[in-house]
Amino acid sequence: MSPDSFILAIESSCDETAAAVLRPPGTILSSLIASQAEEHSRFGGVVPEVASRNHLLAVDPLVRRALAEAGVTPRDLGAVAATSGPGLAPALLVGASYAKGFALALGIPYLALNHLEGHLLSPFLGSEEIPHHVALLVSGGHTQLTEVRGAGRYTLLGRTLDDAAGEAFDKTAKLLGLPYPGGIEIDRLAAEGNPLRHEFPQALMESGNLDFSFSGLKTSVRYFLEKNPLLPSSPNGMADLCASVRHAIVGVLLKKTARAVEISGLDRVAVSGGVAANRALREGLQHLCTTKGWTLHLPSPELATDNAAMMAFAAMHHLRAGKQSSVGIEISPQWQVGGRF
Ligand code: KG4
Ligand code: ZN
Repeated sequence: MSPDSFILAIESSCDETAAAVLRPPGTILSSLIASQAEEHSRFGGVVPEVASRNHLLAVDPLVRRALAEAGVTPRDLGAVAATSGPGLAPALLVGASYAKGFALALGIPYLALNHLEGHLLSPFLGSEEIPHHVALLVSGGHTQLTEVRGAGRYTLLGRTLDDAAGEAFDKTAKLLGLPYPGGIEIDRLAAEGNPLRHEFPQALMESGNLDFSFSGLKTSVRYFLEKNPLLPSSPNGMADLCASVRHAIVGVLLKKTARAVEISGLDRVAVSGGVAANRALREGLQHLCTTKGWTLHLPSPELATDNAAMMAFAAMHHLRAGKQSSVGIEISPQWQVGGRF
């Protein structure tokens, strides 16, 4: 097959079923997402079996729509890719099995891809080259700093020792009585609040390493609410709490990213993952990079949260490197990138 044939990618690692068609090198012809967030919000988090059942219902109509919107028939495809990990096993299985069946039926290559690699490459969608840079990946399941030397060349610099940044947003939002996924809600309400009204812990700030810890924040917010139960319903109470929580999380992310770039001696930063949609983080990184003279690569908010376009772009890099996967390959729910795990 030609490395420039159309690529279909399917993403089902968590609670979003997504399908996208890419025309290499970087034209997204369609990118669709069927979100189950509302269904999981009843449980305050993602329930794997419910996610799996919904992926099963969503995947086939979604792929058909993605192909129709792209104006592409299955016969035009050069490869089919799916997220193989990390993620929820029952959820991953649906997208990966569907993609394998599709590739087998058409007799074209299948690619088993890493979801984190999709995020890492997402700020560069459309570019031919992936430049040498430091990447901050902040999602609901992962928080890590990675040195990226190019597509497929990742070195882990630091990571969370407990909760991910998105998880810290979601768990504190739940304590505040906000709907799941809470990161977006906190970000929205924080816009009207005073970030300096309450001081919440910023863990490992003074430690010399590049690791993160967010579990103490949630505990601190819980104690705070036990002591001040009426504060969220007081005037500006909720907005100030949200702004202060966001300030604590974003503050650590900015400081550790700056430290990673300084240690690496590079002058280029990229951010990816759902929390990269956070307005305070985006503005903070922009300010940091302008002050230091660094180049910043930010994905659009739609490409920051889970999507299949980023997976199709990662697939293109694999195909260009001459790689493809066996359809016999198992899903890898714990698959990480960059070593040190
Ligand atoms: O990358 P993603 O869509 O899924 C994972 O791979 O985890 O990230 C989802 C996470 C959730 O925790 C969600 O609350 C968070 O990203 N998120 C945000 C914002 N938008 C999404 N967190 C803070 N501010 C936002 N604007
Ligand atoms: Zn993700």
